[in-house]
Amino acid sequence: MVKAIATPNIALVKYWGKKDGQNMLPMNNSISLTLDEQLKCIADAEFADEKDEFVVNGKPANADAYRVLEYVRKTFDTKKYFKIISDTYFPVAGGLASSAAGFAAIAFSIAKLLGEEEGIELTITEISRIARMGSGSACRSVLGGAVEWLAGNSDETSYAVQLVPFEEIGLVDVIGILSHEEKKISSRAGMQQTVKTSKLYLERMKTVGKRLDIVRKALKEGDYETVLIEAMKDSDNMHACMMDTKPPLSYLNEKSLETIKRVNMLNEREGRIVCGYTFDAGPNAHIITESKNAAEAEKLFAGIADEIIVSEIGKGPRKIL
Ligand code: DP6
Repeated sequence: MVKAIATPNIALVKYWGKKDGQNMLPMNNSISLTLDEQLKCIADAEFADEKDEFVVNGKPANADAYRVLEYVRKTFDTKKYFKIISDTYFPVAGGLASSAAGFAAIAFSIAKLLGEEEGIELTITEISRIARMGSGSACRSVLGGAVEWLAGNSDETSYAVQLVPFEEIGLVDVIGILSHEEKKISSRAGMQQTVKTSKLYLERMKTVGKRLDIVRKALKEGDYETVLIEAMKDSDNMHACMMDTKPPLSYLNEKSLETIKRVNMLNEREGRIVCGYTFDAGPNAHIITESKNAAEAEKLFAGIADEIIVSEIGKGPRKIL
């Protein structure tokens, strides 16, 4: 048996839309920061006798999860069945997406099992592709630090690469839990609807390449003001595309909007960009800031967050057994 741990990631330039749902190919590259082990998923992988067995958080897994195992057999030429048990250990009850950490841990544990017991050694690129088949954003969680998912145009060419190792990044993600509710419309269904119906999304596709270039360069150079400015613009742009979807998708709540206001006020008061907000498909706020400003960022959540997690940049998955 192999046990592996993986953590979520927060996108600075978002993935919101696929060009190929079957192969899980995104419309554009995306860039994220991997988070630390306060938020984690642990997956156990072993071989099974006659059929796959898959349990996620104590419940039978869904079709996406089984599809990952089919993909592994087909792609890496093995006939083995798997028994996978995956659990999420987040300090909060719901409200934070766990699929990225979950599928990264699953992909990593399967890869180590195949390596140790079958001599099938997979590269990190191949592990990223396995994670991608479970959930797109999971392919970025197989690496630590700042990571870019290269959209590619086929299964073989769509995977994540590391831009900057974790120890060279002086940022933290101050996460404010503003709601414990599960989202009503999944990212998968929501993004499909945006691609199909939003005119604004066409504009996004014209400008996202330029933003990726700016953020990639700024992360490598440690130009965090630029990173934060572009992360806020990209979050705003994705949420505008969500609102432009028919019927409109709105994932933010009053407290999310209050957070945006407070971040802007702080930055204005300081006369520079101290903090940058970003939101995924949910109301919980991620305030990205330099480590030395973490306490200042925490204060912005006064009276609105049920819980605050200050996450450093994570190292990526590792085998724990
Ligand atoms: C808003 O990766 O959860 O968090 O690929 O359909 O499983 P599927 O979607 P998922 O979408 C994540 C969307 C996002 C932005 C991001 O993480 O880049």
